[in-house]
Amino acid sequence: MKAAVLHEAGGIPRYEDFPDPVAGDGEVIIDVRAVSVENVDKAIAAGTHYASEKYSGQFPAIPAFDGIGALPDGTLVGFGNIRLPYGALAEKTVVPQGSYMPIPDGIDPAVVAVMASAVTAMSMKTAAGFVPGETVLVQGATGVAGRLAVKVARLLGAGRIVATGRDDDQLREVQAIGADTVINTAVSDEALAQAYLDARGDGYDVVLDYLWGRPSEILLRALVPRSFAFGKPTRVVQIGESAETVITLAGSSLRTSGVEIYGAAKGLNPRTMDEVYQQIVTWTRSGELTFDVEKVPLSDIEAAWQRTDLRGRRLVVVL
Ligand SMILES: NC(=O)c1ccc[n+]([C@@H]2O[C@H](COP(=O)([O-])OP(=O)(O)OC[C@H]3O[C@@H](n4cnc5c(N)ncnc54)[C@H](OP(=O)(O)O)[C@@H]3O)[C@@H](O)[C@H]2O)c1
Repeated sequence: MKAAVLHEAGGIPRYEDFPDPVAGDGEVIIDVRAVSVENVDKAIAAGTHYASEKYSGQFPAIPAFDGIGALPDGTLVGFGNIRLPYGALAEKTVVPQGSYMPIPDGIDPAVVAVMASAVTAMSMKTAAGFVPGETVLVQGATGVAGRLAVKVARLLGAGRIVATGRDDDQLREVQAIGADTVINTAVSDEALAQAYLDARGDGYDVVLDYLWGRPSEILLRALVPRSFAFGKPTRVVQIGESAETVITLAGSSLRTSGVEIYGAAKGLNPRTMDEVYQQIVTWTRSGELTFDVEKVPLSDIEAAWQRTDLRGRRLVVVL
């Protein structure tokens, strides 16, 4: 079969022949149809993600660990839990029986492959208990997940949406899809702290954080009251770390600011996951929630893997 083959950590996957997977006991072969290429896949392939050893400790290997494909009877499913070295970026892969679920009817498989990024935005409800009318700050709103978060916040009835990015042109696009106020983080630390304060209105109720690192460090410092006062609660949901993996957090940032920090997985269980997923499906089917995908054939993987021009569009390899 043809596959995107990675020969070393940090390398670029190449379109090559690779032996077909053979199903062992309790396994099933998947005919792959669509794979969303995300930062996590690149970080794993680069050897910089905590799951790198598990997913690409042996070479040659095929990157990406989930996608959309067809079972031997033709049923289209979302699959995961691939058996190495057979990642998802190939004509076929192999997974344990049951490591898949049918995809919703009437939605392009390439879009279904990207829906998980919209699910992250629903953590404003599941982790932070968002209620309509609240003010939401999206950190990293020019990215794929951040743009979806702005749209989801609007659909959930946010009162105000403040969105951050590093590029004015892209921030204008984010305003066009629903942000009320935008902040360019590519300014001095002092100017950024002031921008967070100027844009907060009555205060940020929920922060969806796809960045961590410098912007979040400055935000958390800026939220510390300048006098003895009870800070308004701000519920920060940690979802991604596009800027940096660590921050320096002063004790005062938690002691007096009213800030609470949660991981995006808080509040998730099979029931809430299903509710959240069904909500995303409903909005997608009705056209209220749209996904910007850049479809490429598997044969283009080497060039596509290195693209930096996507501006909020998700790269999806279609087969
Ligand atoms: N937990 C989950 O299930 C899940 C799902 C999806 C994503 N994520 C995580 O969420 C994060 C965003 O994912 P994505 O798919 O939206 O990525 P993306 O499309 O590449 O967007 C990345 C965002 O981060 C910004 N950014 C990158 N480096 C930065 C820096 N050094 N300083 C400030 N801003 C920076 C980008 O700004 P520019 O537009 O200016 O480049 C963009 O807004 C990633 O960490 C990803 O792993 C998590």
